[in-house]
Amino acid sequence: MAKHTICLIEGDGIGPEVTAATLRVLEASGASLEWVKLPAGAAAAETEGDVLPERTLEAIANYRVALKGPVTTPVGKGFQSVNVQLRKRLNLYAALRPVRSLPGVRTRYEGVEVVVVRENTEGLYSGIEHEVIPGVVETLKVTTRVGCERIARFAFDYAVKRQRRKVSVFHKANIMKMADGLFLDCARRMRAQISPTLPYDELIIDNGCMQLVRDPSQFDVLLLENYNGDMVSDLCAGLVGGLGVVPGANIGDHCAVFEAVHGSAPDIAGKGLANPLALLMSSVMMLNHLGETAAADKVKTAYDTVLAEADPAHLTRDIGGRGGTESFTRALLARL
Ligand code: NAI
Ligand code: MG
Repeated sequence: MAKHTICLIEGDGIGPEVTAATLRVLEASGASLEWVKLPAGAAAAETEGDVLPERTLEAIANYRVALKGPVTTPVGKGFQSVNVQLRKRLNLYAALRPVRSLPGVRTRYEGVEVVVVRENTEGLYSGIEHEVIPGVVETLKVTTRVGCERIARFAFDYAVKRQRRKVSVFHKANIMKMADGLFLDCARRMRAQISPTLPYDELIIDNGCMQLVRDPSQFDVLLLENYNGDMVSDLCAGLVGGLGVVPGANIGDHCAVFEAVHGSAPDIAGKGLANPLALLMSSVMMLNHLGETAAADKVKTAYDTVLAEADPAHLTRDIGGRGGTESFTRALLARL
C-alpha cells in the first residue's frame, strides 16, 4: 500500500505529549503513514528564531496534509498567533469541528451531534489593530464576499454530502449590519444554489448560545464567521465533556491541517495528565480525508470501546477518570 507522507507539528505545552500518544495509536492502527517533523510555535522560536518557519509552510503546501499539536500564543503582546498565520498563509478557510456525545463520558446532555463550520481566515481575527491616538485602539473586522461565499459553500456541501438535518447560521447582523449582513447574504445564496430544501435558520448569536445550552438537540450544522465560531466551538465542547474530546480540521482547497480545538494547556503540561483523545479524533478525521477508512474505523472503535467501558483507571481526569495520557493510550493499544 502506498504510504502517505504527513507533516507533523508537535506544538507546545501538552502538544508533544498528545502527539506522541496519537502516533503510537496510529502506528498500531495499520495505517500506512510516514511523518515529516516540522517546527512551529514557541518551541520553534527557540530553535529556529521563528515561530512559523517558511520551510514548515512549504512542506505543508507540498505534502498537503498535516497533523498539528497546539501552540502557545502570548496574550496581549508578542508575535502574531501562529494559528492565525498558518490558516491565512495556507488558505485553510474552513475550520470543521464535529462535536458529539461520547459513550461513557457523562455530561449534562445526551445525544449531542453538532458540527461547527467556522470561517478561518478573516473577520475579527484579521490581525489588523492600531492605536489611533494614545488610549484609543481600533481592531478591524474584515469581511469579504469571496471569504463568506467559500465558507458557506463548504458548509452546505458538507451538509448535503453527510446528509445532515439542518444548517443554522449564528450572526450579529442586527449590530454589524454590513459585515454579518454580507455573511448572511452569502449563506442564503449558497443555500439557494446547493440545498434549497434543507432546513435552515438564522439566529442572533446571543440567543443562539442560550438555545445551544438549553437544548443542543435543536442544532445540527452551525455556520459561523471566525470570532463567533471560535467562541461557539469551545461552548459546544463543553456540552460533550470539554476540550479533551473535540477534534478539528482546518481545510482549504489545496491542503488540510488536522488539530484539536484545545490549546497548549500550560496548567497541565508535562504532568502526564493531558487527554490525547481530541488529537486522536482529529487524526481519525485525517485518516478519512486520506481515504484510510479501515484504519480510521479501527481507531474510532478502539476509543469508543475504551470510553464505553468507563474504567476510571484508563481515562484521563478531564472526563472523570483517575488515569493519565499513558493509561489511556495503553488501553487503546490493548484494543488494537
Ligand atoms: P486550553 O485549551 O489550552 O486549556 C483550557 C482548559 O482546558 C485548561 O484547563 C486545560 O487544562 C484544559 N484542557 C485543554 N486541553 C486538554 C486536554 N487535551 N486534556 C485535558 N485537559 C485539557 O486554553 P487556554 O488555557 O485558554 O490557552 C493556552 C494556550 O493555548 C494559549 O497560549 C492559547 O493561545 C493557545 N491555544 C492554541 C490553540 C491551537 O494551537 N490550536 C487553540 C487554543 C488555544
Ligand atoms: Mg479557540
